[in-house]
Amino acid sequence: MQRNGHRSCVLWFTGLSGSGKSTIANLVDQLLFERGAHTYLLDGDNVRHGLCAGPNLLAPVYGSEFAERFGLGFGQQDREENIRRVGAVTELLANAGLICLTAFVSPYRKDRDLVRAWVERQNGPGTFLEVFVNTPLEVCMKRDPKGLYQQAIEGKIKNFTGISDPYEAPDSPELELRTAECSAEQCASQVLSYLTVQGILP
Ligand code: ADX
Repeated sequence: MQRNGHRSCVLWFTGLSGSGKSTIANLVDQLLFERGAHTYLLDGDNVRHGLCAGPNLLAPVYGSEFAERFGLGFGQQDREENIRRVGAVTELLANAGLICLTAFVSPYRKDRDLVRAWVERQNGPGTFLEVFVNTPLEVCMKRDPKGLYQQAIEGKIKNFTGISDPYEAPDSPELELRTAECSAEQCASQVLSYLTVQGILP
């Protein structure tokens, strides 16, 4: 779909917490904005306050039964529903002609593949671009920007990806970014180059 001077697509960043997904996605978003592209960035940390809010946020407004039914946590099925909801939104945004960026841990291959299939069915082949932010666990643990790894190691947070929950790396991502070796700016320009080579950007 071409409506804005560029083709639309979904740029799906996946990787461990602290891998740099949000930082790089924000930089890419900024670079795309400067080129006049129409974009939207969905980030785990803000989507989980609204569309995919947890039970604690829903309960005061909607009551505990509703909150238990629709609120999302970090168990496998809750993550699956998180990615399903976000995936459905990306499909709509891509269909409206936007370049939609997402930054979610999205640890399960099956969940990402389902979004890929759904997006490509609606928007055409090559419209779902999986960007693997490949940062070693040890590096993420050292960065620990929110102090969550420390809490997970102490057992204060359950089901924490990389510590007490799995992360299934993509088998054949369209792009792989190695943040331990390259700066966030270098990674962002790698993404822009790829979009140009693929003909998504003019
Ligand atoms: S996903 O697995 O369902 O895709 P999502 O990207 O929305 O996760 O949210 C991940 C963010 O929530 C992390 O960056 C971290 O800040 C926070 N978080 C809180 N608890 C967990 C947990 N158990 N596992 C991973 N991230 C968690």
